[in-house]
Amino acid sequence: MTRRFATTLLACTALLAGMASAQSNELLNDAKDMFKPIPSVVPAVKDNAVTGEKVELGKMLFFDPRLSSSGLISCNTCHNLGMGGDDNLETSIGHGWQKGPRNAPTVFNAVFNAAQFWDGRAEDLKAQAKGPVQAGVEMASTPARVEATLASLPDYVERFGKAFPGEEKPVNFDNMAKAIEAFEATLITPASRFDQFLEGNTKVLTTMEQEGLKLFMDKGCASCHGGVNLGGEGYYAFGVVEKPGADILPAGDKGRFAVTQTADEEYVFRAGPLRNIELTAPYFHSGKVWDLEQAVAIMGTSQLGEKLADNEIKAITAFLKTLTGEQPKVIYPILPVETATTPKPEAMIAK
Ligand code: HEC
Ligand code: HEC
Repeated sequence: MTRRFATTLLACTALLAGMASAQSNELLNDAKDMFKPIPSVVPAVKDNAVTGEKVELGKMLFFDPRLSSSGLISCNTCHNLGMGGDDNLETSIGHGWQKGPRNAPTVFNAVFNAAQFWDGRAEDLKAQAKGPVQAGVEMASTPARVEATLASLPDYVERFGKAFPGEEKPVNFDNMAKAIEAFEATLITPASRFDQFLEGNTKVLTTMEQEGLKLFMDKGCASCHGGVNLGGEGYYAFGVVEKPGADILPAGDKGRFAVTQTADEEYVFRAGPLRNIELTAPYFHSGKVWDLEQAVAIMGTSQLGEKLADNEIKAITAFLKTLTGEQPKVIYPILPVETATTPKPEAMIAK
């Protein structure tokens, strides 16, 4: 009797487990249509071969504060590679303690975005890298100043020569951007639990995380946040259905409107890439939201016109946390010491 009972119980458990795994397999198939895993090898970039020499040089430049006129601000200041590739500030602070207008997105996996910036105004990473160096509120330098600085440091001159062989004048602003792009292509975060799931290991996500993934697809989040980066591809109004209040969507920043000057692109922004999202608070281009659950709830009302239930918000958030991948291990570079001809830092703050 007891034995028969035990056998029946075992059979039931096996049946339930079978059903659960059938459900997981269906979920996996749906997910494979919408998302792609982060590759484990460094991706190729357009018109810029990613070589070891370029990557090493790009890493030095990424960390070198002398690309800024103050000698104090590097790319890493706002895209801290030990903190998810961003600065965890509402909006960034740059030259002379000026507060920039937008939240800094992460540089991790940026190579997979269709275009760069919240409004997509830079076509790729090499076009992007020239922006912050010159922006008055960021590094406040000039191409001439950067070239003079790099040319004054023999170690850089040698490295540019090796990274861009056969070029007549390898130390130049364009090549600075190309080297940085090559380094950024290595800043990818593969092997997140979600990637392992996509590669067929359905057991790696808990029931709740799988529910969250299902909701993320069924409710329509995935239609804007799909692909490798779960975002970073298309542009949409922030407030397709209901515009968030000015506390979250400040009236002054009209997004893509400033790029295209088309009236129906007012308050249109790039769907934020969601890889490593648990590491990159605060959220949205305004950086006004620190809590990921609140960000999910806002997306429900603003983009889907739906007040998500508490348990739905929790499940979706649990799923989003499975997007955290292996963080790149970066060995801090030793930077060349200044010479007599290196331009001196310019005072950041008026005396
Ligand atoms: C003062 C802070 C600051 C500095 C310094 C800075 N950035 Fe940024 N970065 C930002 C902000 C803010 C944005 C978003 C601006 C926007 O969308 O208009 C951004 C955007 C980016 C993006 C686009 C990512 C995406 O998902 O669209 C990349 C890539 C990037 N920066 C790389 C760099 C590199 C390389 C350097 C050094 C040459 C650098 N940044 C220096 C603050 C900074
Ligand atoms: C119609 C397209 C669309 C849909 C649907 C959509 N989003 Fe978004 N999402 C966006 C856009 C656009 C942004 C950038 C908003 C901004 O800051 O300007 C964004 C930003 C985000 C952010 C913040 C990213 C960051 O780095 O700060 C999160 C988190 C997010 N979405 C999650 C979701 C979730 C969860 C859902 C489903 C409940 C969803 N989104 C549905 C377009 C969409």
